[in-house]
Amino acid sequence: MGQSKRDFVSIDDLGNEEILALFGYADEFNEDIKAWSDLCPGTILATLFFEPSTRTRLSFESAMLRLGGGVISAADTKVMSAVKGESLADTARVVGGRYADIIVLRHQDEGSARVLANYADVPVINAGDGAHEHPTQTLCDLYTLWREKGELTGLEVVLAGDLKYSRTIHSFAYALARFGASIVCVPFPGMEIPDHVVERLQRDWNADVDRADVGDLAGITASKDAVYITPHKPHQQSLFTRISPQSVKKFDAIYMTRSQKERHEGANLDDLAYPRIGPEELRQASLKDTRVMHPLPRVDEISYAMDQDPRAIYFRQAALGVPIRMALVAFLLGRLKGWKLASPAPSGRPIYRSRSGVACRNAHCVTRREGRKYLVPEFWILSDVPALLRCVYCGVERRPELVGHTQSRKLHRSNAPEAARILPQRRVYFEGPAQAAAAGFGEDGSD
Ligand code: NCD
Repeated sequence: MGQSKRDFVSIDDLGNEEILALFGYADEFNEDIKAWSDLCPGTILATLFFEPSTRTRLSFESAMLRLGGGVISAADTKVMSAVKGESLADTARVVGGRYADIIVLRHQDEGSARVLANYADVPVINAGDGAHEHPTQTLCDLYTLWREKGELTGLEVVLAGDLKYSRTIHSFAYALARFGASIVCVPFPGMEIPDHVVERLQRDWNADVDRADVGDLAGITASKDAVYITPHKPHQQSLFTRISPQSVKKFDAIYMTRSQKERHEGANLDDLAYPRIGPEELRQASLKDTRVMHPLPRVDEISYAMDQDPRAIYFRQAALGVPIRMALVAFLLGRLKGWKLASPAPSGRPIYRSRSGVACRNAHCVTRREGRKYLVPEFWILSDVPALLRCVYCGVERRPELVGHTQSRKLHRSNAPEAARILPQRRVYFEGPAQAAAAGFGEDGSD
């Protein structure tokens, strides 16, 4: 693939224009789903699934077969070489060489798809990496919502349920913010949207975040912890510091998720407080035309009575997963007629490689799990002074306390003026004095 290899590891890997263009191709594919087997003959898609899946894996495999390609699949973790201790990097080198032309990965470690993409010669698609992201589910979600509503900008979308561990929520929230939609977060108490996700919404897309009075959504949940995220509108900001029922006249969609119990690690949660909806709960005027979405599988959070309601679109999301994934696969293989694959847009942010200093603070990050033996932690530098770093793999941000000079071995507080005078290539960031001392860096020279 040479220079133009494109991966789809994060929703950030596609621009808004590209996403809208994919919707156009998906519409064409959807019109006659069986008419496209001349697009990718002779190509092979590999699905590597280290976590359970029904829809995602089967819709990818169906998409590739409908494009005329072939499929190889490793979906039973018990019989994969990972149980013998094989690393993702080695798997990537093998499968992403002669075995397959494109790889779809689902894995429990956050940032795992980035690792595979870095080591494979072929495009890699993230089908869910721990609680981090699930960008192709977001393509299904956005595409379905766009078909229903005709646009994405200016929509009011409620995200409900387990907002902490639902990777579908995180990718969807980033995409909604990018397209200028507003988001009301209604969490399962104890499973609020993580700070680093909200910070990224604020920092990267200039979103405003308010506490929300969700009285208007009382039928959905009794949660008092709702958050309202809106596109930044300087002239209107003073209109509300708390949203009230009057602020939002109607909601365009409610996106429900199941409790991600497999990631709760013994948390003591009150299952009865989990938001649940059905036609009974959605009778108020502001919800009259609200689309009810869910990535599936559903457990108890949407009643079966909802299935007959015209507002329910979750099975449509699942069905549209095939044409939108056909569009994505054909795009990444450079096979979409009339569309030349361009190189990925550079992020524009400098990267810090942390050989002896700060590590990612997320215990689920691939750099601290599967990849700890061979990966050097990497961070985007969001701000120099005071230092603010974002893990390239899992997206979690951290503020290192100290900065050292590689030659003088002197240390400074990361917000001190002296820190700003160290050339970027001479900086080493440390989480605290003990780590700095262990790496042979001396007393703080600044205070
Ligand atoms: C989701 C996932 O795996 O994150 N499922 C899917 O891909 N449609 C949602 C979930 O498991 O709750």
